[in-house]
Amino acid sequence: MAISIKSAREIELMRESGRILAKVHDELCKAIVPGISTKEIDIIGDKLIRNYGCIPNFLHYNGYPASVCVSVNDEVVHGIPDHHRILLEGDIVSLDMGLIYQGYHSDAARTYGVGQISKEAQALIDVTKQSFFEGIKHAKAGSHLYDISNAIDTYVSAYGYGIVRDLVGHGIGTSLHEDPQIPNFAQKRRGVKLQAGMTLAIEPMINIGRADVEWLDDDWTVVTEDGSLSAHYENTVLITDGEPEILTLN
Ligand code: MF3
Ligand code: CO
Repeated sequence: MAISIKSAREIELMRESGRILAKVHDELCKAIVPGISTKEIDIIGDKLIRNYGCIPNFLHYNGYPASVCVSVNDEVVHGIPDHHRILLEGDIVSLDMGLIYQGYHSDAARTYGVGQISKEAQALIDVTKQSFFEGIKHAKAGSHLYDISNAIDTYVSAYGYGIVRDLVGHGIGTSLHEDPQIPNFAQKRRGVKLQAGMTLAIEPMINIGRADVEWLDDDWTVVTEDGSLSAHYENTVLITDGEPEILTLN
């Protein structure tokens, strides 16, 4: 499938979709306190999205049963919210969610500490976030897609962390997942040339330990094989002829 180039009108709708998602993230993160369940976080996130007149795009996606993916500690992504899963002081938690505004999808993820967390956990969160910003230094028309992947890998590898290889970023627009796939690790080829009007969800997933992951029996939750902590940072980004526009960050 060709990579879609959004028209000026579509870009406006993508901007509004992203702007709303950024607000939802900023509001939802206030709910993260020791003692809250991961299901309560999902319920609040779902409500926030709907209060903006939008639709949560993760709910029922390939049968996924919630609006927010809530992944704790060694859970990398796609943790299923659960009334019995209570966040504790010192945990780290990744919130991944998206929404549809007038037919246009946005997608973003953040990892937070619950109360006081270890220095090691905070460093993982910080490096994961910064790796996104290192990657998007190359996200402009005329650059090649894998310049982004290579920049993320170079930055993260210096810390000795494991870069998840089994899951990747993606194009986004009238569907949640469009071409191209965007790996977060170094590639031999340069990849397609980026063009203004492409919208990409760039989302490094980084483990303190080894890169290997496995799926739990719920068929969704992805965890690190070695049990080490994992962090995630994602934004929906618009490619332009100049600096990229981060649509899901206000
Ligand atoms: N946020 C995921 C992504 O970035 C998609 C989650 S799909 C769901 O691609 F089904 F788990 F919700
Ligand atoms: Co995504």
